[in-house]
Amino acid sequence: MIRHLLSTADLSRADALLILDTAEEMARLTAGRSVKKLPTLRGRTVVNLFFEDSTRTRTSFEVAAKRLSADVVNFSAKGSSVSKGESLKDTALTLAAMGADGVVVRHAASGAAYRLATSGWIDARVLNAGDGTHEHPTQALLDAFTIRRHLGPLDGRRIVIVGDVIHSRVARSNVALLSTLGADVVLVAPPTLLPLGVEQWPVEVAYDLDGVLADADAVMMLRVQRERMNAAFFPSAREYSRRYGLDVRRFARLPESAIVLHPGPMNRGMEITADVADSPRSVIVEQVSNGVYVRMAALYLMLAGADDDVMSAQEGAA
Ligand code: NCD
Repeated sequence: MIRHLLSTADLSRADALLILDTAEEMARLTAGRSVKKLPTLRGRTVVNLFFEDSTRTRTSFEVAAKRLSADVVNFSAKGSSVSKGESLKDTALTLAAMGADGVVVRHAASGAAYRLATSGWIDARVLNAGDGTHEHPTQALLDAFTIRRHLGPLDGRRIVIVGDVIHSRVARSNVALLSTLGADVVLVAPPTLLPLGVEQWPVEVAYDLDGVLADADAVMMLRVQRERMNAAFFPSAREYSRRYGLDVRRFARLPESAIVLHPGPMNRGMEITADVADSPRSVIVEQVSNGVYVRMAALYLMLAGADDDVMSAQEGAA
């Protein structure tokens, strides 16, 4: 198993399946139980280091670490010395001095998690919770977990990812992971929202959403990331929704078994209409619950001693 979780491109098929299977195990051990805690990471300290805003990912990592009995420190850049200009290095040295075993980091700069993991500033395991427009590996893992729960193994499944691909670390992480797991990935976006060099990615590219829906097993809608846009990428919000938004009319073109995903936060009415987001075939709320199991699995695999057979010990005690 890898030492840090920085990018889904680092995961072999066996690594990825181990994380997904461990997440299933976490769900089995905690879902529906009145006491959801496992003793696995007792005595370990996990620091949530968030330089960028987050609701879902930060709380999900916090809940995951707490369910494994780790001590959790939440460090957000607002209200910390980072807002006084403290660097990533000084922040890392401070966390190291406090004895962090695991650092979950989100940062606006692509490569920040990699820098933290390889700089030698800190000895902790690093889990990337989103670095700029680069990667968001636990999001892709929870997406794959959710798809697998509904559709079974991903081999040969056709997954359509729609929208603001150029700014999306979720799309990048998903393309690498889903193709490692044997899925066929189709990217649909206006040409202005596709990154340079996309023809080298292991994907098909399409510009017409209506044309790809009939064969889709799952559709993942991406948020239009206006905060990362410093120019006009499309004529107007209305025009974008008309061509690339998922509304009821388009939804009706999907096969009956197909599911709809969105990493959140949603721009309702922009990339997805409210009726589609809230429909029974939307798994958006499930993605959030599954995120906790996947992050428990990642924290467990990174931080628990290799020889701890804590999960079976817990079962014996239960
Ligand atoms: C994503 C992110 O931050 O990259 N959100 C998330 O983690 N749930 C996607 C987004 O912000 O659009």
